[in-house]
Amino acid sequence: MTDGISRKRSGAVLELRFNRPDRKNAITSAMYSALAGGLSEAERDESIRVVTIAGSEGSFTAGNDLRDFQQAAPGEAERPVAHFLEAISTFPKVLVAGVAGPAVGVGTTMLLHCDLVIAAPSALFSLPFVDLGLVPEAGSSLLLPRLIGRQRAAKHLILGEPFDAETAFGYGLVTEVVAEDALDARLREVAERIAAKPPEAVRLTKKLLREDPSAVRQRIADESALFGERLQSPEAAEAFAAFFEKRPPNFSR
Ligand code: COA
Repeated sequence: MTDGISRKRSGAVLELRFNRPDRKNAITSAMYSALAGGLSEAERDESIRVVTIAGSEGSFTAGNDLRDFQQAAPGEAERPVAHFLEAISTFPKVLVAGVAGPAVGVGTTMLLHCDLVIAAPSALFSLPFVDLGLVPEAGSSLLLPRLIGRQRAAKHLILGEPFDAETAFGYGLVTEVVAEDALDARLREVAERIAAKPPEAVRLTKKLLREDPSAVRQRIADESALFGERLQSPEAAEAFAAFFEKRPPNFSR
């Protein structure tokens, strides 16, 4: 267990798990660093073939910690998250996610970089960037419209409507939906099956499946620059304050 991320080794599988349930697994800078560290260790270690990412206690993750956002000095908040986004978007081995409960913000956008996503019926995906005065990240402004079409992407990225597991399955964001109590076992089973396959064939196939790596890298950089500016905006300050004060935000000037 490191800073809200637990790591468990099980044969050729590295299991990463969000473990900050009192904050619905909201991700702090330290947690981004731990995730990036886990991924780079898995990349270097030849005996690790598959990485799984899951949540805990009925929550995948509530996305970026809003306190971290609120307290971020210009440029400061981006570094650990940038390492994580670089690591996950270029990770050469198979990544399998298991999602139950809320998957907010980066909790949904990171799935666009996973190879398989197993979801429970309780999974609820949401991309509230605009409502927080922010812009999409993790390449989602490129990858989501490519996956589901521009108008559906706008429904989630501009209108901010959450979507459930069956909708995500229909979109092709989720590989399969399994019963709540079967999620962990299915995640392990899928990971172990892939870990037993010829690793070089798996690696090359993942590489071939990956969409337009240089365009994705460029989009992540473009989004990050805007995101950093937006974090310092009065719109974002109002949205973060409203969340912690448990009141509706007021964006009228
Ligand atoms: N950052 C910091 N703290 C967070 C958090 C976040 N992203 N998400 C939840 N928390 C905290 C809450 O402030 C609350 O703290 P409190 O007990 O001191 O009041 C605690 O975690 C439990 O959250 P709560 O909102 O009471 O749980 P819920 O089950 O009613 O709702 C969510 C769960 C995830 C829907 C809701 O917490 C939420 O919308 N969180 C913000 C998500 C977000 O905007 N993330 C950023 C995306 S870019």
